[in-house]
Parts: sequence; C-alpha cells; structure tokens
Amino acid sequence: MTNRKISPGGVIHGAVELPGDKSISHRYAIVSALAEGRSEISNYASAADCRSTLECLRRLGVVIDTKDRTVHVTGTGLAGLKEPRKPLDAENSGSTIRMLAGVLAGQPFRSVITGDDSLRRRPMRRIIDPLRQMGADIRGDDRGCAPLEIRGGNLHAIDYTPPTPSAQVKSAVLFAGLFADGVTAVHESVCTRDHTELALREFGADVECSRGTVRIHPRPKLAARQLVVPGDLSGGVFLMAAALILPGSSLMLHNVGLNPTRSRVLDFLISLGAKIHVPNLVSRASELVGDVSVNYAPLAGGEIFGSQVAEMIDELPMLAALGPFTEKGIEIHDARELRVKESDRIATLAAGLRAMGARVEEFPDGMRVEGRSAGKLSGATVDPHGDHRIAMALAVAALGAEGQTTIRDAECVGVSFPEFFATLERLRGAS
Ligand code: S3P
Repeated sequence: MTNRKISPGGVIHGAVELPGDKSISHRYAIVSALAEGRSEISNYASAADCRSTLECLRRLGVVIDTKDRTVHVTGTGLAGLKEPRKPLDAENSGSTIRMLAGVLAGQPFRSVITGDDSLRRRPMRRIIDPLRQMGADIRGDDRGCAPLEIRGGNLHAIDYTPPTPSAQVKSAVLFAGLFADGVTAVHESVCTRDHTELALREFGADVECSRGTVRIHPRPKLAARQLVVPGDLSGGVFLMAAALILPGSSLMLHNVGLNPTRSRVLDFLISLGAKIHVPNLVSRASELVGDVSVNYAPLAGGEIFGSQVAEMIDELPMLAALGPFTEKGIEIHDARELRVKESDRIATLAAGLRAMGARVEEFPDGMRVEGRSAGKLSGATVDPHGDHRIAMALAVAALGAEGQTTIRDAECVGVSFPEFFATLERLRGAS
C-alpha cells in the first residue's frame, strides 16, 4: 500500500497520448472472443480492469496474447467458450462482471463470477433480473451481490427497460441477446454510452438503434477485426482539470475517444468557461476520435442534474472536486448512482474534500461543493477508499491547495489509469 505525496503548484504544459479507453477495450476484447478468427486490438487499455476481462476470457478457453499495448484474441465463435474450472475473478471491475454475466447467461454450462471486496458489495440485481427474464438461472448472494452463479443457455428474447440508466446493464442484455431465440430490445430514457452497439456492429452483428431503443438479432456470424482503441477521455479529464486549476497551463491530448455519449463533459467544462478546442475529429470503426486542447481559464461553476448525470457519470468526482476552484461552486443532483460505484463516491469525495478544508454539503443524490469564496484548500492526508477516480480527483485538487497532500493507497489509480501520477508529474515538469 503506497501513499503518494502531492506538492501543490506548477503549470501543466505539454502533449499526451492517453492510454486506451477502458470501456471500449472491454468491449473489443469480449466481442473478439466471440468472433471467428484472430483479432488485433491496438492501444488496449493499460487499466487493471481491462486485464481482468482478458483473464476471465482466458479462463473461458479464449487464446489471448498481449505484447506492449497490442492484444491478439483468437475468437472461439459464439458456440466455442469452455466451462471454466474455477470461479472467474473480475477483481474491481463492474464492467467485467456485468457484461460477462450477459455472455455467460448464453452458455450451456455452469460458471461462477466474482470480484474483490468492493465489487462484491455492488448491486447485481440490475443484471440478475433481466437475465432471469431471458431464462438464465443466475443467482447472487442474499443481498443480490456477487459471487454470481450462472447456468445459462436457451435464452428467450426480451424487451427490457433498465430501471436505472446503465451501459453495463444494457450491454449485459445485448450480449445475452446474441444467444436468444429472437430479437432482444433494450429501451433507454437517457442514452448511455453506446460502445457495445458500435463494437458488435463492427464485428458483423445486426444491431439497430433508433430513438432510445437498441435491438439485437441473435446468432450473428462475428468476424475477427483489427481495431485501435481511442485514448481514454475519462482519464484525460483528470489532466484537463489539472490544467484548469493551475494558471498559465496549456495541454494537448492526442487521439482521444470523443464518442458523443462520452464527451458531454467537454460541453460542461466549456459552459464553466474552460478554453477547450477539438481539432482533427475523425471516425474510426464508428468511434469518434480527435485531439483536445485545454488552456487555463477561470471557471464560473454550475449545476449537474438529470440526463447529464448518466452522460458524465465517471467524470462527476473530478467535476465536484473542481468546485473550490470555481466562482460559484459545483452542485450535483440526481446522482444516487455515485453511491454504488467502486466506493460511495459522494461520501468518499465529501470526506476527502472536507479534510482539505472545502465546504461540502452532502445530499442523498449528490453534493454541493462551495466555490472560491469558501477559502483556499489546505494540504491534508486523504483516503480514497481504494477508489481510483476519487484518488485522482483528490490528487488534482491537491495541486491547487496550500501545502502538501498525502493520498493513501494511491496505487488504486491503476484500476483505470496506471500512468496517471507519472503523466501528471511529466506535464508539470515540462513547464
Ligand atoms: C461503464 C458504464 C458506467 C461507468 C463505468 C463504465 C461501461 O457504469 O460508470 O465506469 O463501460 O459500460 P454503469 O453502467 O453502472 O452506469
């Protein structure tokens, strides 16, 4: 367990090629595994979560070779996965357990999938319910949490509306839909990230998307592909926030994933006054990719609620931690989901920011972080409770504090962005 000391100040200056997007890497790995032939995935995420997905797929009999950031996956075809001899371990990764549960629900064998202490506290009824409706025998513990025991096969197509907007739940149902007896539909009131739909289509699946409904036809023939994963915008946002806290900063992020279901955070930052430009926008394998430049500018503050929450769900910790550096503060509502992430992100972030002297009000579904008039942050020892995004959000806030901050067990950033501290220090050193 390594603590990390952050000294404040400096200027962010330079350019970064971000590691591959975590969400897209999971999907490309899973869909390659179900395809026929050998796929090549370049710039695969360095995130520990995405290694967990590869490990689980290996245990299902998929041959996977990794060299640097390139992953070769020899797919088994839809009917070729093998019964795992031991429980699959998704470790800290909600995407791994929920999306693979959808695949496992379609398999004619028994499997168990579990994870670390944090993952075994997270709600799984949201996937258990629809997968049971499809006919899978899937059980969690008595709280509806992992380990999940799944006996799959003979699935029926369903029409499903997830009670809470969730790309993981939508993806679990769509993956199960590959093995169903008809067309499976998922209806969404708020559009969540659509990487699963795009990836399935790239590999040859018949997926229709229109006005909040996704339909998947069963038993497609999926063919291997060569794909490049765009850089991870959700990780890049921490570096962008650092540039928005440190006056004089200027940062360029290259080849960033800018799928419209993920890039809402840029609009929000621009609405606060951030100077952000997106040159060189192109579409690669149906995913938008571009460069993002950010220059320091004073921020006004603002509110996040309603559909913005699902659109920026992973960016909310960083946006809240920008509160003390804004004129009017940041207020978040309708974000109860934050309480069932890798940690209770409302409570963990509020505690960390308060330890640094911020004025924070907690709501059941959000928080209010007061702006500059509440005073400057002071360095403190803070505990992200093993949550990667909280560790990075507090580390960035620490750049604008007075005095040194210690982030406890800071290596948890490896769950999504192992290079985070090294990149931050390189960008500050380059100034
Ligand atoms: C993800 C979906 C989101 C997000 C998570 C990644 C995905 O979770 O918070 O980090 O890759 O589909 P929910 O589906 O639970 O909202």
